[in-house]
Amino acid sequence: MTSSDRPMNDADPGTQVGRRLTLRRPDDWHVHLRDDHMLAGVVNYTARQFARAIVMPNLSPPIITVAAAKGYRARILSAVEPGLTFEPLMTCYLTDTIDAGEVERGFSEGVFTACKLYPAHATTNSDHGVTDIRNIHRVLEVMQRIGMPLLVHGEVTDRHIDIFDREAVFIESILAKLIEDFPALKVVFEHITTADAVAFVEAGASNLAATITPHHLAINRNAMFDGGIRPHFYCLPIAKRETHRLALRRAATSGSAKFFLGTDSAPHTAGDKEAACGCAGIFNAPFAMESYAKSFDEEGALHRLEAFASENGARFYGLPLNEGLVVIERQDVNVPSRLATSSSEIVPFHAGEKLGWRFVPHDEPV
Ligand code: DOR
Ligand code: ZN
Repeated sequence: MTSSDRPMNDADPGTQVGRRLTLRRPDDWHVHLRDDHMLAGVVNYTARQFARAIVMPNLSPPIITVAAAKGYRARILSAVEPGLTFEPLMTCYLTDTIDAGEVERGFSEGVFTACKLYPAHATTNSDHGVTDIRNIHRVLEVMQRIGMPLLVHGEVTDRHIDIFDREAVFIESILAKLIEDFPALKVVFEHITTADAVAFVEAGASNLAATITPHHLAINRNAMFDGGIRPHFYCLPIAKRETHRLALRRAATSGSAKFFLGTDSAPHTAGDKEAACGCAGIFNAPFAMESYAKSFDEEGALHRLEAFASENGARFYGLPLNEGLVVIERQDVNVPSRLATSSSEIVPFHAGEKLGWRFVPHDEPV
């Protein structure tokens, strides 16, 4: 089936679209695939659902050279199971001393698709991140000139700022100025979690966009404390109160081309999460599209899922839309409480829940 002879999903906008939803194959514009055993255990969950993914560079050590990105890309591709087509899009981790020439060369050779800005100490493996935006002004000038997107982890790192305010304070104290200083730079405000971020992105020019995760559409901060501490709902930026979740749902389902899919799937072993100082990150790759479909369905906006998942991001990055199609069908699916990889167990997002959607594998007759 090609995209021209498939059923139209928006024939019945705002209500239901029937039992099956056929979409252009989606992309994940923000994912953590890790390396070594963990990479082998997680990459195929992403490759089964998505044609391409923007791969985060926060390995230890981080990806800061063209050679390191090429090597990592090769390791990812060799871990993808036969029969799947998947294109990892590599990113460069910005440090205070990053070489602007290396960034430009990586972009012009087609190795780097974007650069990632982690404020130093904001999250997992961000110790080499940027301590002051002024330190990367030269690189940002180059990126602006060559049209290379900047992907931003938008949280301040000052421990005196309340953790639930760190995204809003980042907008006021850093992002607004950055955008003023580099008005033509393409910026993706990653994994937004607040109504403040939604409003900021909506008010910006067309070179400012945002990704939204499945978990921030599904949970608010109560999920972390429901009858006890629930480490599998802890991620950064942390989930906020309900009004923010609703603002994210409105943005994702609004039809605006500024918002697109980025799972921020961030696997950690069950042991690393269920610890006295548990790691931040939610592993949502195994049921990512099912989770998005559930949220869009609840908003009566399944007809808007395809643009969010399969069109807006590619257009923002200036990449072609995917040719293939995927099918998601209404069917109860039980999400396992744990998934075993060759070396460890990981708890997926929605563990133990029943989801009303099933992603149909590409090799299953439809
Ligand atoms: O929750 C998160 N986990 N947020 C991030 O920004 C990083 C990620 C990770 O790498 O585990
Ligand atoms: Zn991330």
